Amino acid sequence: MCGIVGAVGHDRCGPVLLDALKRLEYRGYDSSGIVTLHEGQIDLRRAVGKLVNLETALADQALPGSIGIGHTRWATHGGVSEDNAHPHVASDRVSIVHNGIIENHRTIRARLESAGHKFASDTDSEVLAHLFVEAFDAGLDAVAATQKILAEIEGAYAFAAMATDYPEQLIVARNASPLAVGIGEGACYIGSDAIALAHLTRKVIYLKDHDFALISADHVAVYQADGTPANREAVIVAASPGMVDKGGYRHFMEKEIYEQPDAIAHSLAAMTDADGQLTATMSTEDLRAITGIVMLAAGTSHYATQIARYWIETLAKVPVVCEVASEYRYRHPVTSAYSTALAISQSGESLDTLMAMRHAASSGLHTIGLVNVPGSTIARETDFVLPTRAGPEIGVASTKAFTAQLTVLLSFAVALAKAKGSIDAERAAQIHQQIQSLPGLVGRALTLFDPIRPIAHALSQARSALYLGRGTLYPLALEGALKLKELSYIHAEGFASGEMKHGPIALIEEGLPVVALLAADEVMAKASSNLREAAARGGQIILITEERAVHEVDFADAVITVPNVDSLLAPILLAVPAQILAYLTAVEKGTDVDQPRNLAKSVTVE
Ligand code: G6P
Repeated sequence: MCGIVGAVGHDRCGPVLLDALKRLEYRGYDSSGIVTLHEGQIDLRRAVGKLVNLETALADQALPGSIGIGHTRWATHGGVSEDNAHPHVASDRVSIVHNGIIENHRTIRARLESAGHKFASDTDSEVLAHLFVEAFDAGLDAVAATQKILAEIEGAYAFAAMATDYPEQLIVARNASPLAVGIGEGACYIGSDAIALAHLTRKVIYLKDHDFALISADHVAVYQADGTPANREAVIVAASPGMVDKGGYRHFMEKEIYEQPDAIAHSLAAMTDADGQLTATMSTEDLRAITGIVMLAAGTSHYATQIARYWIETLAKVPVVCEVASEYRYRHPVTSAYSTALAISQSGESLDTLMAMRHAASSGLHTIGLVNVPGSTIARETDFVLPTRAGPEIGVASTKAFTAQLTVLLSFAVALAKAKGSIDAERAAQIHQQIQSLPGLVGRALTLFDPIRPIAHALSQARSALYLGRGTLYPLALEGALKLKELSYIHAEGFASGEMKHGPIALIEEGLPVVALLAADEVMAKASSNLREAAARGGQIILITEERAVHEVDFADAVITVPNVDSLLAPILLAVPAQILAYLTAVEKGTDVDQPRNLAKSVTVE
């Protein structure tokens, strides 16, 4: 998973590409590089580590030229090293950047090596540079060379190539990985998404799968894989919020936790029609046609689907199954029980989720995409879009996108239930009113940073922790544990409270932190008995609950309370202290909160 950029026709190519890469750092950040072409020479700078290291290298030695490509890397094939960082250069003649995986790279590399090509990296991507050299040596022009290469490579890719043979154009291609071409004034650009180009242009062409293009300063020629010219319209993308900054907060994650009241309010507004009714942005007929839903998502978005299942089944009586996107299509699912696939993705680009959605669509299911990034691949391919309006989320660990997803999913459940007649208008209005109270309730939960600080200090000393919940708080326990492990690197597991006695309770020993999520709902008494069993065996109970449920667990070692809330909304409100706990624990440990090790914000490889 990586980010790629390119520019042709801009006389300050180096700095422009660096700015574009900064906007893509969310896609990976273990190494980066930029290459330009100037007076027939390829000039390369690469650096291991964050982009700031590349910035320093460029400050020491600027890159001249008006054509270039750049890359920020999240390693898949080959360790993190300067040699494995992109761009890759072959024979001082062709340079490439690539996002994705060339699955048959070993076979291609063996063939090229036996023909005398010398490789400098362990990556799958480098074969692309050598394949271009081979094709040019065989006398093929840029179109024929690209066509030949696309016929040979297998896998997911978005790549850009720059060659001394064609000093005034970039060659780009995509299959499954995202790629946007930006049309500027006297210059053209490419980027893994339109945000990367937002400081340069809003006029964008999105290539379709298997397209390739030759891009010069004033012209974009698009072709299908067989070399047939293709007409792809330019669109004007929504005004970008520009380069997002931390706005005075210590970390993006802290800022994004604080942005949740707005993210929830804006997302709810997007689900409400002019008459103030929840619409799910779909017609009543379309909603009535939904008879069963398969939810497809990864990571935090997957936990949002698991919470939504409770709401949709309870309110709308529509059967729901939640699938880990990376598993879905490979288990050859029987889809006949479902009418609709709901793909949920903050970025709208997670390849696992996109491929799962495509599989569902090809099996005849209608598709709905719940995404935070307008214009993302999932948003463009789906039959219906449910938007979250959380704004750009930069911290790798998802926070405001998660609570915004939950807000939209609960609103969707209500609209679906109303359309199906399983709840009446009065009940729908009542729940809608409760959802409207969420921004205020979440705002009050934001005062919890100080009370949670000492609890986080103690938790930061632990080597392991458990998270427990029942009902809708069970998936929240999974999400809470994910937040803690991804941010602070403390081993954490989430379990359904009732499942403890069937095995996990064996893990409990004196002093093990047990983060307990509890609400005054129909399973409260049972959940609190499960916690008592854990406490009796030495577990240190950190209770996260609403005020009216505190008395249920009078044996807790630490208590974090949020205002009382309707039990439907409890997982949204209780998510906030769970995020703050993980955030402050990571701050105590001094880990890299916004860019935790080994992770990337959006993963576009399978
Ligand atoms: C990556 C991120 C997670 C995120 C997941 C799904 O693994 O590190 O924070 O939850 O992708 O991302 P999506 O954009 O599809 O919601």
